[in-house]
Amino acid sequence: MKGFTRRTFGKTAAASAAAAFAGLTLPRLAVGQPQPQPSELRYPKRFVWGCATAAYQIEGGAKDDGRGPTTWDVWSHTPGKTHDGDTGDVADDSYHLYKEDANLLKALGVGGYRFSMSWSRIFPAGKGEINPKGLDYYNRVVDELLAKNITPYITLFHWDTPTGLSGGWQSRDTPKAFADYAAYVTKQLGDRVKHWMTTNEFVCFTDLGYRIAQFAPGMKLPAGPANQVRHHAILAHGLAVQAIRATTPAGTQVGLAENTNVYVPVMETQEHIEAARKATRLGNACFLTAVMEGKYMDAYLEREGANAPKVEPDDMNIISSPVDFVGLNIYTPSFVRADSSPQGFAQVPFPASQPHMASPWILLAPECLYWGVRNTVDLWKPKGIYITENGTSSDDVPTPAGRIDDVDRIMYLRNHLMHLHRATAEGYPVKGYFLWSLLDNFEWADGYSKRFGIHYVDFKTQKRTPKLSAEWYREVITWNAVV
Ligand code: FCB
Repeated sequence: MKGFTRRTFGKTAAASAAAAFAGLTLPRLAVGQPQPQPSELRYPKRFVWGCATAAYQIEGGAKDDGRGPTTWDVWSHTPGKTHDGDTGDVADDSYHLYKEDANLLKALGVGGYRFSMSWSRIFPAGKGEINPKGLDYYNRVVDELLAKNITPYITLFHWDTPTGLSGGWQSRDTPKAFADYAAYVTKQLGDRVKHWMTTNEFVCFTDLGYRIAQFAPGMKLPAGPANQVRHHAILAHGLAVQAIRATTPAGTQVGLAENTNVYVPVMETQEHIEAARKATRLGNACFLTAVMEGKYMDAYLEREGANAPKVEPDDMNIISSPVDFVGLNIYTPSFVRADSSPQGFAQVPFPASQPHMASPWILLAPECLYWGVRNTVDLWKPKGIYITENGTSSDDVPTPAGRIDDVDRIMYLRNHLMHLHRATAEGYPVKGYFLWSLLDNFEWADGYSKRFGIHYVDFKTQKRTPKLSAEWYREVITWNAVV
């Protein structure tokens, strides 16, 4: 067998097997054991299946109808900051093609669509003057969705900070401006929109933007000021919760979307499960733990010492304003085990051989969907949980016939949904799942080099093509089950 490596041999064997079966139509259960019917991994009734996107990643229309500039416009136009200098100037042009995108959602059969509003379309300078044309756009989007029986789930802030806000998140005025923006838009749309998320992923617009300069606005602040930025972010969330409660009808659901650090116990024995819970509290101390507990953990304050955030008297009450749900954005976890250290756990690094998806940071460990839910609910008992993001990039290449057979994405999603199913079967209050993403889009510093959509986008023509994963997701939704 000279000349065969294991890889080529495997490929050749698979190819000849495939050729032998080509053209045959087999009765569904003719080969092997009967397959589980989708009903065996069925999700609860009224479970919300959806897709997620964000304004700067899909809208384009960066200068249309009076939209003001944001930190991401500036950052993406700064040479060397994004892959190939990509920007969100046009992105998926969803500002103009939103009806087409609503049709894609309709064809999938989703019950919900999570998208974000661009603050600077409505308040071009972040505060002060209002731009009615910006609001009109979201009125059109909401009405289009409702006409198609799709429930809008709106995120008020997904990282696109208006540059008009001097000092950005370093300033305590920014949380106040955010609350005013939240009050205004929820008053305008609250008759039709019943589900709101304040902020998306605190760590990405605080630490990644202000501490390590990976994202806009690209600063490297020392620990003290950087911790203050974090504090302003959670304060903005709390102020916005209060603003939304004041402007919307009873029954409106308010929450946030957080990419908590998710900890999976190395084995499911009591001591390691307990270790994962402790790690979840400490690993999210400056964000979700503070929001849910209304205080910073002593361990966090002691660790930060003189760099700890400056907290004004009512801040922690505001920050912990009750939410109706916690949204979890989950892609990848950390593993932990119990140990005899004072904190009671140790993180177990991934071996170099841990498989990952097209984005190297998405290390494959689908148990994270179960443990992300379970740790959060066991610790803080929120009334509801949504998975507000889960999905993966894939090296999608259309076949000559124009198909995109993203079987790796389907593998990723199916396995995550199996573990999420376990959470629902055990009674954890998971109400819905939003797949990231409806479309390939502007993936922040990775520009257009990483495709997360279940619809392929040709960025030259804006043509959208459903990938195999879109067909698969439609089946999941039809069966309300893992398929
Ligand atoms: C999340 C972001 C989202 C997208 C996915 C891949 O962290 O919230 O905008 O970039 O990652």
